[in-house]
Amino acid sequence: MKVSPTDATLGAVVTGIDLASLDGAAWRGVEDAFHEHAVLIFPDQHLSAEAQIAFGARFGRVEQLVPGMEIVPISNQRKDGSLLEDDEHQMQVLIGNEGWHTDSSYMPISAKASILSAHVLPSSGGETEWADMRSAFAALDDAMRTRIEGFAAYHSLFHSQAKIGHRAEVGAGYGFYEGEQPLRPLVKNHPVTGRPALYIGRHAYGIPGLSEQASEQLLADLVNFACQPPRVLQHRWSVGDVVIWDNRCVLHRARPYDHRQARVMQHTRIQGDPATECALES
Ligand code: OGA
Ligand code: MN
Repeated sequence: MKVSPTDATLGAVVTGIDLASLDGAAWRGVEDAFHEHAVLIFPDQHLSAEAQIAFGARFGRVEQLVPGMEIVPISNQRKDGSLLEDDEHQMQVLIGNEGWHTDSSYMPISAKASILSAHVLPSSGGETEWADMRSAFAALDDAMRTRIEGFAAYHSLFHSQAKIGHRAEVGAGYGFYEGEQPLRPLVKNHPVTGRPALYIGRHAYGIPGLSEQASEQLLADLVNFACQPPRVLQHRWSVGDVVIWDNRCVLHRARPYDHRQARVMQHTRIQGDPATECALES
């Protein structure tokens, strides 16, 4: 197994490994690399759905984003091969993915990790980017670090989708969570490495103690500052690639592409640890 760090502050490309048949030593190598680099790119794996779920299950409890399904398409193509229209609910969710976010921060237990694999790709665009919230936090000036250290924000998929003009209804599917909106600290200490990271992104809003406008401004300023080189990694996908990322310390986003071309990815999400990824009592 070869782990080659990228030029960014996060991410490594891992080769010489078959994710469908990991022995104990290889698994420990993967887990260590995951904690160190936060994003691991495995080219040319061509995992079956079952193998992707099994790889995910090594990290923890696999979420069912659709009841009964531990792997879900992130796709603008219907089963019959036709493509979604931009104004359809599912397409609006995909367009939402083009804003910097972390997965399941709008649920009572946020995600530990997500796995994405590439199956059908557009001829250009449709890359994925990740941004390192550990090095972003470390790069803040002292005044900002001190200012935000006691802050928390609510997280809601209704809120983030409304900002792009998508008005989703309660019961609209995974993430459109109707319970009490989770409140989460702006600075998250990683449960394994202890490293502090900014915990922000498009689902965050409403910092208690700030006006709505001051909260929006601060959250936008933080994302704009954080998601800059050398903290951003872009991956141009090839069919068969598999990527896993640590939602506890990175943001990610899809890049735009021509929606008249198909883009089919398969997603598996690993739930956080209730001890460390539960929302605060509000
Ligand atoms: C996701 C996601 C981005 C992409 O799967 O959670 O945000 O590039 N995907 O499809
Ligand atoms: Mn996502």
